[in-house]
Amino acid sequence: MGFLQIQFINLLAILVIIASSKSSLSATPPNFPIAKPNCTDHCGSISIPYPFGTTEDCYYSPDFFVNCSETFIPPKAFLGDSEIEIIEISLDDGQLKVLQFIARDCYNRNGTSASYNGPWIKFSTFTVNNNANKFTIIGCDTFGSIEGQRLNGSGYYKTGCTATCYEQNDLIEGSCTGLGCCQTSIPKEVQTVELTLESYGNFNEVWSFNNCSYGFLVEESAFKFYPDNLTNLGNVKELPMVVDWAIGNVTCEEARINASSYACKSVINSKCYKPDNGHGYRCSCSDGYQGNPYLLHGCQDVDECQDPLLNICEKHCVNTVGGFYCACPKRYHGDGRKDGKGCIRGESVAFKLAAGISLGVIVLLLIACWLHLELKRRRQIKMKEMFFLQNGGMLLQEKISKRERSSDTTKIFSESELQIATNNFHNNMIIGKGGFGIVYKGFLPNNRIVAIKKSKEVDPDQIEQFINEVIILSQINHRNVVKLRGCCLETQVPLLVYEFINNGTLFEHIHNKAKARFLSWETRLKIAAETANVLAYLHSAASTPIIHRDVKSANILLDHTLTAKVSDFGASRLVPLDQTQLSTLVHGTLGYLDPEYMLTNQLTEKSDVYSFGVVLVELLTGKKVLNFDRPEKERGLANLFLSVMKEDLLFEILEENVMREGNKKQVMRVAMVAKSCLHMKGDERPCMKEVAMELEGLMLGEKHPWVQTGHNEEAKEFLLEGGSSGAINFGEDNSTSIGFDSAKEHVMLSMGGGR
Ligand SMILES: *[C@@H]1O[C@H](CO)[C@@H](O)[C@H](O)[C@H]1NC(C)=O
Ligand SMILES: *[C@@H]1O[C@H](CO)[C@@H](O)[C@H](O)[C@H]1NC(C)=O
Ligand SMILES: *[C@@H]1O[C@H](CO)[C@@H](O)[C@H](O)[C@H]1NC(C)=O
Ligand SMILES: *[C@@H]1O[C@H](CO)[C@@H](O)[C@H](O)[C@H]1NC(C)=O
Ligand SMILES: *[C@@H]1O[C@H](CO)[C@@H](O)[C@H](O)[C@H]1NC(C)=O
Ligand SMILES: *[C@@H]1O[C@H](CO)[C@@H](O)[C@H](O)[C@H]1NC(C)=O
Ligand SMILES: *[C@@H]1O[C@H](CO)[C@@H](O)[C@H](O)[C@H]1NC(C)=O
Ligand SMILES: *[C@@H]1O[C@H](CO)[C@@H](O)[C@H](O)[C@H]1NC(C)=O
Repeated sequence: MGFLQIQFINLLAILVIIASSKSSLSATPPNFPIAKPNCTDHCGSISIPYPFGTTEDCYYSPDFFVNCSETFIPPKAFLGDSEIEIIEISLDDGQLKVLQFIARDCYNRNGTSASYNGPWIKFSTFTVNNNANKFTIIGCDTFGSIEGQRLNGSGYYKTGCTATCYEQNDLIEGSCTGLGCCQTSIPKEVQTVELTLESYGNFNEVWSFNNCSYGFLVEESAFKFYPDNLTNLGNVKELPMVVDWAIGNVTCEEARINASSYACKSVINSKCYKPDNGHGYRCSCSDGYQGNPYLLHGCQDVDECQDPLLNICEKHCVNTVGGFYCACPKRYHGDGRKDGKGCIRGESVAFKLAAGISLGVIVLLLIACWLHLELKRRRQIKMKEMFFLQNGGMLLQEKISKRERSSDTTKIFSESELQIATNNFHNNMIIGKGGFGIVYKGFLPNNRIVAIKKSKEVDPDQIEQFINEVIILSQINHRNVVKLRGCCLETQVPLLVYEFINNGTLFEHIHNKAKARFLSWETRLKIAAETANVLAYLHSAASTPIIHRDVKSANILLDHTLTAKVSDFGASRLVPLDQTQLSTLVHGTLGYLDPEYMLTNQLTEKSDVYSFGVVLVELLTGKKVLNFDRPEKERGLANLFLSVMKEDLLFEILEENVMREGNKKQVMRVAMVAKSCLHMKGDERPCMKEVAMELEGLMLGEKHPWVQTGHNEEAKEFLLEGGSSGAINFGEDNSTSIGFDSAKEHVMLSMGGGR
């Protein structure tokens, strides 16, 4: 507030100063240099300011040469090489005072004249001041004239007046109106002066009291007529006269063009003006500055507060560059001037108004700012709520709340939680990219590492299905399925949070030569069995069957013990209980795609069986699913495998480890399972349960060769014959089956009355 107050008063004060400074600031400042450096600034008692100077380096031009003659005591200053003596030089009004000869005309008793008209005065560029000087005649029988050149060259002037008197008593002190004294003005721009005195011839009558007449051009204020002057002027040689000086003979505008010759050197704080009399230009300091405007930095700020003549402030005087103002103490107002209002207790109305308005504006701004932020915050909350609803949040919450158990396994994450976990979805955290979207690695506060899948946009029509999948996956506690930790519905695209599997995909382990060496036959068989288990479980165990739709080696993750974790249910579809097949757009990966599904668009569980068959062949042969280097018919691994099987050349294409470690009989049986899975007709393929059982049995047989007979042998027979899926009855009680030990409770899950 103090700042505001000072600003406000400052404004008032400056206005006041501008109005009043012209009259009050004419005193010559003390201690400012008036001459150029190393130049003498005086001659005797006469100060010589630049542009005048006594030597060539010290004056502006020869016009301003001052001849300081030390042969006189005290020294006398002469203008240029003339005999015109200078007695004062003034910068402020551009004037010189010089001494001017007095012309005289004296008579003897017998009438002979002794006249002295004095030397002509002649200025080259300067002019005689026409306001301050008067042509004056003293005498009682005299007329005098003044004439000469005016500046203009062709200009010539002549004027004069007459003084008469008959007795000394007629004369009046101080009156020059013709009685013994007459005065007349001269025109402007007078450059030369020539005086002439003449008598009318009546000297006899006046000789007794006036035997001499005098004529001179004089500074009016320096001469006052006294009757005595009729006689006593004989002792006086010279009288003062005022001369105007200026720089050059061009205008300010013309002079400014040549900066090096422009005389107003104190550029910023000086101004140039045209003199009233004569041509050329003069310089002066700006208001509030004083000094010599003809010198570089000659105009300096006046500390008006130190000037006793300007002691006009009541309390505090504050000097400013180019001015000053009077300040009032806190909680006082007014102009602070002794000759003004002074300082008055209390804030001024204008100040109160200004303070009130600024306070009001600030408050308004704050309110507007707060409103803006609040609205933005609300809009964001609304957006989040909208996305949450759009993404089926309510449905999910409802379903989750119906099974409190599920809240242990699945959590609805907030957007900010996942932002923190992934360092705001930083690029460094990306661990996978694909058609499905982007997978980020994330660190949850409890040190759990998760994989966060940011899908591509979800079709709003399928939101409900998505939610059901989330629900089902969250319920699956199968050791061979990548666990869904939770999801986030506040974003436009739902985010899925999975457990983090650290050992890459089966695809890498099969096709990366270095890794493939460590993938033994036993492990391959185990992975196959585990994967088959998962698919069997998805197809039959859950109350609403799930078709994975994108079974492939790249979607089977391996942990550090090389245990299979089936992932990516993004494409998976639920098959409603009353439908055994579902018509959808073909979805899947080329090479693994069920050819029947491609033809009919009818999605059944058997499509997964086909894809799994391809994975089995991949495991057996270590060959790429699609290879365009192979002959056209054998580009697809499935076709290659089937033709090899037909020609009984299986052992030609087996993977090294399988070849070396695999029990031939066992390998052959796995190959037969694969072959049955790859049957062109879906109906002819075994169901996943059967496949899982067979592989399970083979695996156990590997470890415990004595189990090789019996149930597994039957399964093999069945598979080779391509019998109906009802042949093996798993029933509700499948606790004997390894890998299904946790399945029972999942089978029991109800979907809350379906969708
Ligand atoms: C002034 O005179 C002194 C000594 O005579 C010299 O050192 C100095 O440079 C001169 N300054 C200027 C501006 O001429
Ligand atoms: C200066 O004045 C003196 C005395 O009047 C004179 O003798 C001298 O010549 C003058 N100098 C110049 C340069 O005019
Ligand atoms: C004029 O008169 C005065 C005395 O009044 C005298 O001293 C002076 O010499 C006279 N001048 C002439 C030229 O006669
Ligand atoms: C006039 O008087 C003066 C002395 O006062 C004298 O010297 C002069 O010769 C006189 N002239 C005439 C023409 O009488
Ligand atoms: C010069 O004189 C003429 C007339 O003689 C006049 O018109 C002109 O304005 C004068 N010039 C100056 C600069 O005074
Ligand atoms: C005129 O006379 C008065 C009175 O005697 C005197 O003081 C003054 O100096 C005289 N003027 C001049 C210019 O001599
Ligand atoms: C201006 O002054 C210069 C020399 O200083 C001179 O040559 C020129 O003729 C003058 N011009 C006028 C218009 O007086
Ligand atoms: C500017 O003034 C300087 C000094 O007076 C002179 O030497 C120079 O010739 C002038 N330049 C112009 C363009 O008039």
